[in-house]
Amino acid sequence: MGGIGSYAPPQIVSNQALAKIVDTSDEWIRARTGIRERRIANNGENCSDLGAKAARAAMAHAKIDPEDIDLLIVATMTPDMPFPSTACIIQTKLGLRNIPCFDIVAACAGFIYILDVGCQMLKSGNYRNALVIGCEKLSSIMDWQDRTTCVLFGDGAGAIILTKNETAGLGILGTCIAANGADGKILNMPGGGSNEPATTETVLDRRHYLKMMGKEVFKVAVRVMEQSALEVLATHNVKPEDVDCVISHQANIRIIELISTRMGLPMDKFPINLDRYGNTSAASIPLALDEAYREGRIKSGNYVLLIAFGAGLTWGSTLIKWH
Ligand code: ACO
Repeated sequence: MGGIGSYAPPQIVSNQALAKIVDTSDEWIRARTGIRERRIANNGENCSDLGAKAARAAMAHAKIDPEDIDLLIVATMTPDMPFPSTACIIQTKLGLRNIPCFDIVAACAGFIYILDVGCQMLKSGNYRNALVIGCEKLSSIMDWQDRTTCVLFGDGAGAIILTKNETAGLGILGTCIAANGADGKILNMPGGGSNEPATTETVLDRRHYLKMMGKEVFKVAVRVMEQSALEVLATHNVKPEDVDCVISHQANIRIIELISTRMGLPMDKFPINLDRYGNTSAASIPLALDEAYREGRIKSGNYVLLIAFGAGLTWGSTLIKWH
């Protein structure tokens, strides 16, 4: 890995502020999720703007110029528009060359997916520096009348520069990704695609907002996140107790506590920022990784495990030896 950066919009929305618009309370949200506040982008700030800001921070950290980037992959489920891709929009904002740019939709597991795709494309030999960005403006697909979802999510972005020619055994050791589309109905946004194009009825029926069966998602998330974490560790002959830092998808503190217990790893190995950002979907992992790195919680030679789960259903884990 060559560099890392993140960005969250400055506007903070507290639980108390949400309690003024839906029937909820700070106590309920904190007890059930661990979230205290989230960041919300303003009307003029698009998903691509958040992604471009995180990318600039990652390029500065990598000390790399825009002309040195030869591949751009974006993970998002809140693109600026259905097409062109958010990657192409960010390409223009960053002034990148005419390189391949594309989006991948794997919701909250999106960043793990693009890490794997980026690494595989670097291994193919045609690329040297890949920019991978997870960015979301989830506030744009929230139903601000639905207390069961609107209190959970926030906006943000994170980015990594993947570089070829890593020192042997250092950097990203491997990724396991998977999906089960059969369970897709428990977390989706039904309106706006070719299945339900926008009509007055779909808008009035609130079909263009995220819908989630929270309890069902919770149960599957705990099971598959643990499974995929153990799978990537076993593939690289690393024991759970040898992992120094676990960056889990920041959806709910209770999910992370259960994974910590099931894997026999103390909670102090799990940096947490969901209290301040909520669930930022594809941005969640790089935002938490960047923050943990900058706080000195990740040191050279550490084993760092990334674990995520999202709509699709999709999930995956990445094992890194930090350098
Ligand atoms: N404020 C107050 N009460 C609420 C709220 C709220 N914001 N939301 C729900 N309630 C009520 C419910 O109506 C219910 O009331 P009832 O018992 O009278 O019916 C009660 O609280 C309990 O609701 P549950 O849904 O059973 O609460 P639960 O403990 O399961 O917590 C939650 C809900 C937080 C959504 C949890 O299930 C969860 O975190 N699920 C996982 C979400 C997730 O991880 N998503 C990740 C993927 S996201 C992606 O890919 C985009």
